[in-house]
Amino acid sequence: MSQKVIITPEAFEYMEKVTGTDGVEVRVNLPKEIIEQINEICDSFDNDPGELINVLHEAQNRFGYLPAEVQDMVAHNLHIPVAQVYGVVTFYSYFSMIPKGEHPISICVGTACYVRGAERVLEEFIKELGIKVGETTPDGRFSINCLRCVGACGLAPVVLVGDKVYGRVSPDGVKQIIAEYSS
Ligand code: FES
Repeated sequence: MSQKVIITPEAFEYMEKVTGTDGVEVRVNLPKEIIEQINEICDSFDNDPGELINVLHEAQNRFGYLPAEVQDMVAHNLHIPVAQVYGVVTFYSYFSMIPKGEHPISICVGTACYVRGAERVLEEFIKELGIKVGETTPDGRFSINCLRCVGACGLAPVVLVGDKVYGRVSPDGVKQIIAEYSS
């Protein structure tokens, strides 16, 4: 499997001409290395439009998020409208169109967590970090995202920071969680 490549803002200074499987040439504002990885991901799913979600999953795993340029390439390779790709990316909260922070914070707002106060926990993260859901702090350290049930309802309300799970989180505990990643 190819190495993970982080798409930096500088990446968009490159412009490549690529030829799709249909022989149509398009101009893509991405460096060659990333175009090759997108092609590899799409190829691994036989460029099958029915595998769109799996393709996007893999692309987000590699790049950390799904900027418009990546969505364009996926649409091109799978021979589907860009609007269809965009529709899937915006429908599922798992997908993100902006780079996540170094420490992505995910607050579960599934039913069990919600009734146990997830909304107040979320509000506290928003207040402490000064960003909204779907945003990243200007220093790139934290981002906030909401998830549906993560399968740990017994620990509700649940917060994830990266892969680390925090259970029974109270609004008062939010500062402490952020502090763990602030030094
Ligand atoms: S609802 Fe949050 S873990 Fe199930």
